Amino acid sequence: MAQSNIVLGLDIGTTKIAACAGHYAEGGIEILSMTKTPNAGLRRGQVVDVEETVSSISAVLEEVERTAGQPLKNAIVGLGGAQVESIASKGVIAVSRPDGEITAQDVDRVIEAARAIAMPANREIVHVLPKWFTVDAEDRIVDPVGMTGIRLEVEAHVVSCPSPAMKNALRAVNQTGLEVDQLVFSPLATAEVLLTKRQRESGVVLIDIGAGTTGVVVYEEGDLVHAAVLPVGSMHITNDIAIGLKTSIDLAEAIKIKYGTALKEDVRDIDTIDLTTIDPSELERPKLRYIAEIIEARLSELFMMVNDELRKIGKDGTLPAGAVFTGGGSQLHGLVEMAKQNLHLPAKLGRPITEFAGSVDKLDDPTYATSVGLVLWGLQGKTPHEPHAKSFSLDNVEGVVGKARDFFKQLLP
Ligand SMILES: Nc1ncnc2c1ncn2[C@@H]1O[C@H](COP(=O)(O)OP(=O)(O)OP(=O)(O)O)[C@@H](O)[C@H]1O
Ligand SMILES: [Mg+2]
Repeated sequence: MAQSNIVLGLDIGTTKIAACAGHYAEGGIEILSMTKTPNAGLRRGQVVDVEETVSSISAVLEEVERTAGQPLKNAIVGLGGAQVESIASKGVIAVSRPDGEITAQDVDRVIEAARAIAMPANREIVHVLPKWFTVDAEDRIVDPVGMTGIRLEVEAHVVSCPSPAMKNALRAVNQTGLEVDQLVFSPLATAEVLLTKRQRESGVVLIDIGAGTTGVVVYEEGDLVHAAVLPVGSMHITNDIAIGLKTSIDLAEAIKIKYGTALKEDVRDIDTIDLTTIDPSELERPKLRYIAEIIEARLSELFMMVNDELRKIGKDGTLPAGAVFTGGGSQLHGLVEMAKQNLHLPAKLGRPITEFAGSVDKLDDPTYATSVGLVLWGLQGKTPHEPHAKSFSLDNVEGVVGKARDFFKQLLP
């Protein structure tokens, strides 16, 4: 098994580093290893403590290499974080060939033109994702190569993040000895695992409720139409419970997982929680309804923020394939039911749409969805949904800013 065929996906989340290694094997994609370790080096999805993050990445890397049975040198790294933004951009060029036939180079050039939009000095572009092309007067073209025209335009999404967020993530990964092949906006990778082509065609929102953030990506007619990272996650529910009950974060977290529900109306006013089942020294018996009220308040706020994002693109309550949930926070009891009521959309938990071979026992664990998505992203080379997707891959950055790895190094002091 050649080492170069194995793709390592590294999801640097607010509470954990998850890693997944996979490769193409006979009969499909084989998962060789999936593992995670807690990480305290992040705040709201961004690396703030490089040293802490390095030691967590080293720990998962060691475990992945052990189970995969060989050393790994490169990784596809997911980038989340509350300050990742997607904005619309447009590129326009004159078609280069005298006979007007559009080449792949023209497509690259027009995407570069969309990339060259004004970006504040302290932000870096992670992706330029074309929505569609226009050749002269004909618009909504998916792949213009081979068509004839004078003027080529592209409508694109430019995904960017603050420079320190990118630098710290790169620095942490590099310090473990791994080379970063690509940085991918995490929700896009997660969508690779969980969303079918049909869902993307009819209109769907993927909601990844992590610890410190909630990633929201919307697809319609097969394309990404909106992306946002909200600065609220399941950790905020834990914090609210800790404040409400005046307990430690650890106890609040255990209460949330064991007794938490998003369905306040299902809880009787007389029900109490026996905390000695979690910690024998905790003799208080808080009301279950009080916990449910705390959870409901925070989730209502979160769903309101999701609705605000959908409203920005005129899609609140109108996506036929509804909402698909993932991330550790989506496991809260009653969350999907509450989402249906609050978002006025069909809702369900995301399940991998691809059959995998190998170590698949953790595939249903939503905290691994992003790391598996990163492996898929790497194995596909580029997403089939965005035929000319630009990311920091070795191939498509070449000639623009040099090799991706050199580009990453030049970002670091
Ligand atoms: N059974 C459960 N019920 C409710 N919440 C849960 C459950 N299991 C895990 N969680 C919550 O999920 C969160 C962790 O999810 P996840 O691993 O997806 O986050 P992350 O990737 O570290 O964070 P982020 O994506 O925000 O950077 C924690 O806040 C945890 O409390
Ligand atoms: Mg996450």
